[in-house]
Amino acid sequence: MNLKEDIARLKKEKNAIILAHYYQEPEIQDIADYVGDSLGLSQKAAETDADIIVFAGVHFMAETAKILNPTKTVVLPDLEAGCSLAESCPPEAFEKYVKAHPNHTVITYVNCSAEVKALTDIVCTSSNALKIVESIPKDTPIIFAPDRNLGKYIIKETGRDMLLWDGSCIVHEAFSIEKLIKLHKEYPDYKIIAHPESEEHILKTATYIGSTSGMINYVKTHSYQKFIVATEAGILHKMQQEVPNTELVPAPAKEDNTCACSECAFMKVNTMQKLYDCLVNERPQIKVSKEIRERALLPIERMLELSK
Ligand code: 13P
Ligand code: SF4
Repeated sequence: MNLKEDIARLKKEKNAIILAHYYQEPEIQDIADYVGDSLGLSQKAAETDADIIVFAGVHFMAETAKILNPTKTVVLPDLEAGCSLAESCPPEAFEKYVKAHPNHTVITYVNCSAEVKALTDIVCTSSNALKIVESIPKDTPIIFAPDRNLGKYIIKETGRDMLLWDGSCIVHEAFSIEKLIKLHKEYPDYKIIAHPESEEHILKTATYIGSTSGMINYVKTHSYQKFIVATEAGILHKMQQEVPNTELVPAPAKEDNTCACSECAFMKVNTMQKLYDCLVNERPQIKVSKEIRERALLPIERMLELSK
């Protein structure tokens, strides 16, 4: 059995599209129809005319695709592909928090559940967060959830005072500032680029901060040829394909003495075999109730409109 060929055949037979995030295994990225960041993936999901969307990413990403495409079949190779950030914001607790702060505009980072999106005024991703926050009138108070690191970064960049939910990503909080400084001493001519889910002390060392697509664009459009990359290590695959002559070094994690990189265990539960199986069986499927879907759709559509 040749998984690559069988997946390509099934995809055609069933009019399916494979959308993959940069943190997926290299072989999954290579067979995908589109590889991108959270914004690009939701834009692709919004415009596709495929009958089946195979989402090679994590649950909140596939759920966003389902909210945008209620009549299509959306499958995730493994339903265990969660996200620590999404988990750090339980809907019941968030609802209480929102109710305790009336008159606030609620902005949520796309890394959250459909139930949390249903409590939201406008969704954002790491590539449009500054623009979305700046679109809110200056005298309107804002609640930002669930990522405190991205929230702090937005406050610093925009000067807006926002109430922050105390959530975080275990992968981006795993970077060690001591090891990063040591690594930078060994590679003094390398520039550090970082994802805004990283902690403030990591971001302070970076010459560029942005989403996964933003980071790839940055290395592509700068003639500089040496970078230390502070985000999930899966990004190095596509980045290296885009800039074959550039030296890329992953930022080191605190607990990692064998390999110098950070990996998202949630992203990595998806495999080529599971991807093939979900195309054959058309499950596991993503389900969202009508009531939650209708409420969660509005803040996603507002974000897509502002991101055109
Ligand atoms: P991007 O939207 O930048 O790809 O981020 C997604 C994510 O989960 C980062 O950890
Ligand atoms: Fe969630 Fe972090 Fe994994 Fe991204 S890297 S999917 S934020 S746990």
